[in-house]
Amino acid sequence: MTSNATVLDDEFDYEIDPEDLPQGTPEKGELGDPSVIVDGLHVTYRVVGSKKRGAVTPHKDSILRKFLRKGGALTGGYTEVKAVKGVSFTAHHGESIGVIGTNGSGKSTLLKAIAGLLAPSQGEIYVSGIPSLLGVSAVLMKDLTGERNIMIGGLALGLTRKEVEERFDEIVDFSGLGDAIYLPMKTYSAGMGARLRFAISTAATPDVLMIDEALATGDAGFRERSRQRIDEIREHAGTVFIVAHSLATIKAMCTRVIWMDQGIIRMDGDPDEVTAAYRRYTKENARK
Ligand SMILES: Nc1ncnc2c1ncn2[C@@H]1O[C@H](COP(=O)(O)OP(=O)(O)O)[C@@H](O)[C@H]1O
Ligand SMILES: [Mg+2]
Repeated sequence: MTSNATVLDDEFDYEIDPEDLPQGTPEKGELGDPSVIVDGLHVTYRVVGSKKRGAVTPHKDSILRKFLRKGGALTGGYTEVKAVKGVSFTAHHGESIGVIGTNGSGKSTLLKAIAGLLAPSQGEIYVSGIPSLLGVSAVLMKDLTGERNIMIGGLALGLTRKEVEERFDEIVDFSGLGDAIYLPMKTYSAGMGARLRFAISTAATPDVLMIDEALATGDAGFRERSRQRIDEIREHAGTVFIVAHSLATIKAMCTRVIWMDQGIIRMDGDPDEVTAAYRRYTKENARK
């Protein structure tokens, strides 16, 4: 189900110069109605055959199973990875929520589950409106030009052909791609592709936008445009989730921060407090 849903991921692990960031923290304002409710969510991956580090093997290997595996005939052999282990929270219209945590803590899995790309193995997720995981990535086609992908992505987000045409120039300007928009996407660098995805997926003012490690791409100008776009979405009562490694980015863009640790929420609250606690934790762990 998730095989062709290329979600922007840890490749985008750039550090940002804090001076490049937009200044000030976003206005918190009044909380709107709930937009996303996650209730006791568990997500477990089943990896067939392979054995992953830190994973749980459900059954002890019997001699028979080993024998069958050697013959390549083992059908029930899988490893379980419990990526999200009982997560609950409520997001509101108008919030931008940063999701932080070390690699493998379950951030991407949580966002994919909210986007409906992964089924919960336990628990419930309610989303008001249509979630857009940054973004239309599942639909964009590498062999086609950026121009064609703007149309396809826009239609996938529910815009009409006319609406996409009207917003075309704005999307291209936002992406900063210039004439490269007429080249096939496969010629783009990861950063260029990420910028175009961001530009397309925010063109429709989504109800719930999720950005997984894609904000760090681009120059200071692109980041400032991104911040403004996120503020606009929040003002239109949307909800934005942002995964980023740069705590400065998180503080500049978010009204709330959730810290994920080994599949559970370790802390959820004020950006300054949560990022400070996370920083202390990572420092202490580095010393061990
Ligand atoms: N498609 C997958 N199949 C199996 N295990 C996965 C898959 N995706 C992620 N995992 C595992 O789930 C855990 C959480 O991963 P992930 O949600 O990507 O964390 P993060 O985004 O915080 O780095 C990790 O142990 C990771 O190895
Ligand atoms: Mg991730």
